[in-house]
Amino acid sequence: MSVIFSAESAGLMYPDGTQALIDTSVKVAAGEFVSIVGPSGCGKSTLLRMASGLIAQTTGTITRTGTVQFVFQDSTLLPWRTVRKNVALNLELQKIDQRIINERTSVALALVGLTDSADKLPRQLSGGMKMRTSLARSLVCEPDLYLFDEPFAALDEFSRERLNLELRNMLSTRNAGSLFVTHSIAEAVFLSHRVLVMSPRPGSIVKEFVIPFGNDRDQNLRYTSEFAQVSGEIAQTLRELTP
Ligand SMILES: Nc1ncnc2c1ncn2[C@@H]1O[C@H](COP(=O)(O)OP(=O)(O)O)[C@@H](O)[C@H]1O
Ligand SMILES: [Mg+2]
Repeated sequence: MSVIFSAESAGLMYPDGTQALIDTSVKVAAGEFVSIVGPSGCGKSTLLRMASGLIAQTTGTITRTGTVQFVFQDSTLLPWRTVRKNVALNLELQKIDQRIINERTSVALALVGLTDSADKLPRQLSGGMKMRTSLARSLVCEPDLYLFDEPFAALDEFSRERLNLELRNMLSTRNAGSLFVTHSIAEAVFLSHRVLVMSPRPGSIVKEFVIPFGNDRDQNLRYTSEFAQVSGEIAQTLRELTP
């Protein structure tokens, strides 16, 4: 499998002297979904910013191939644009042919179940629909690497579980790699091929869990004993890290 992002013994010290990351090694291959869990302030968002190239590591090596797309919790939709026009925004900025924009936008809207709401304005949407619009907007870009910073943290559990499933369906049709930060162990296990646990600051990866489920997953998986088993092990690791 081709590696699209790799950090090798990367460290990051902010200009004020805060050592956010130390000796951090992470690899993401094409088509792979990797989640990161860890205590607040351990450097998860810093790691994503470093992975995107927004900030540079101060030690170690970062390698990245292809394009990157950030997905944040704050969906920051343009209030005067319809759902469809918000989803199409990034493509319009790239000056892509209008026919292709329409096609890719329609596919993305269908995947997140917003075809019927395409002409609504953001203020007419629920929180979950806003997040789905934001996801669709990132999806049309077809990047090589997605960086997710707790995108579903503000949603209720039911919407979140639905979006987890939709996200899996969306990504299954392409070969992008994903680095996904979350506080929800269940979400990490449900979505991922691997879950990485970070130590408190200065953050580094202290444990890797390879998730033993295939690509064909549905909501029932969450209620199996295997799911509880691996979730329990990750929770235990996190508890041992935080005094
Ligand atoms: N621009 C900055 N300058 C200095 N320190 C920062 C900056 N951004 C974040 N930090 C610090 O770096 C540490 C890691 O932050 P962050 O990556 O946001 O953690 P997380 O996302 O895991 O909660 C925290 O102690 C935070 O206060
Ligand atoms: Mg953060």
